[in-house]
Amino acid sequence: MNGFERFIAPASTGAHQTDALLLALTLISVTVIGGITLTMVVFAARWHEGHRAPRSEGSPKRNRKLEVVWIGVPLVGFLGIFLWAAILYHNLRTPPADALTINVVAKQWMWKIQHPDGQREINQLHVPAGRPVELVMTSQDVIHSFFVPAFRIKQDVLPGRYTNLWFNATRPGRYQLFCAEFCGTDHSRMLGTVIVMSPTEYSDWLAANPGEGSLAMQGGALFREFGCSGCHGASSTVHAPDLAGLYGRTVHLSDGGAVRADTRYIRDSILLPNSQVVAGYESIMPSFEDQVSEEDVLKLVAYIRSLNPAQEEQP
Ligand code: CUA
Repeated sequence: MNGFERFIAPASTGAHQTDALLLALTLISVTVIGGITLTMVVFAARWHEGHRAPRSEGSPKRNRKLEVVWIGVPLVGFLGIFLWAAILYHNLRTPPADALTINVVAKQWMWKIQHPDGQREINQLHVPAGRPVELVMTSQDVIHSFFVPAFRIKQDVLPGRYTNLWFNATRPGRYQLFCAEFCGTDHSRMLGTVIVMSPTEYSDWLAANPGEGSLAMQGGALFREFGCSGCHGASSTVHAPDLAGLYGRTVHLSDGGAVRADTRYIRDSILLPNSQVVAGYESIMPSFEDQVSEEDVLKLVAYIRSLNPAQEEQP
């Protein structure tokens, strides 16, 4: 780790926006605290006990105009800050539709990365500058937290579910990645580096590190290997839901509810098939829990998603 600076220069579009909000909040707080403290000191000096002051002329008259101002100005200010922060939060939590999706699987004590074209890396994440990158993250053991101070992003990574994050890096360079949730003996060594490259360098890097085929392709192989195609294939005789065009669609369930077929739903359907049964189907699918690793689940999701290339939805 190369000298952790006290102030980390922002290196993503979101980081600049977060810093602007923080600066505004700090300036307002300092102004208000400064004003109140100054008023207290002046009043204490001018009218402390024993000081000559007219104290017996009865209570002062009300000043409605003054009251409206001191209630109204802070109210508008607080609502403004709330609105600013809420809009920013929403934008920082909603990945753009054209984001590059990269999978992150955390484990004690490392970060495993899968790129859509099949490249894999550990404790390193190569990304292009100037392009939104969405991370779909899960853990295969305990809770971890993905934290890149230079991007001002931090998100818990949980076993049994997906969380996501997105950023748009502005400057090529190397940025420190931390695990920010105590996760056992080597938590403090669960570090990594985000390597931001220019778009041409990035495509060179992808070409120089060919994976074992795209994630969707590897998922397709697993789909046959685990026997999924036996029931979900086009020529199957078993009555199982057809998966083409599933991703992003609304699925009606046998209990009357409805869910959107996103990454999370497909994961649950593979590991806990009987928790959400599609309306009109019997609950006969076996669970693949303990058989499929988190990385393989993500490949299967990529495959099922590829069965519907027309629709680009967020997981
Ligand atoms: Cu992983 Cu702390």
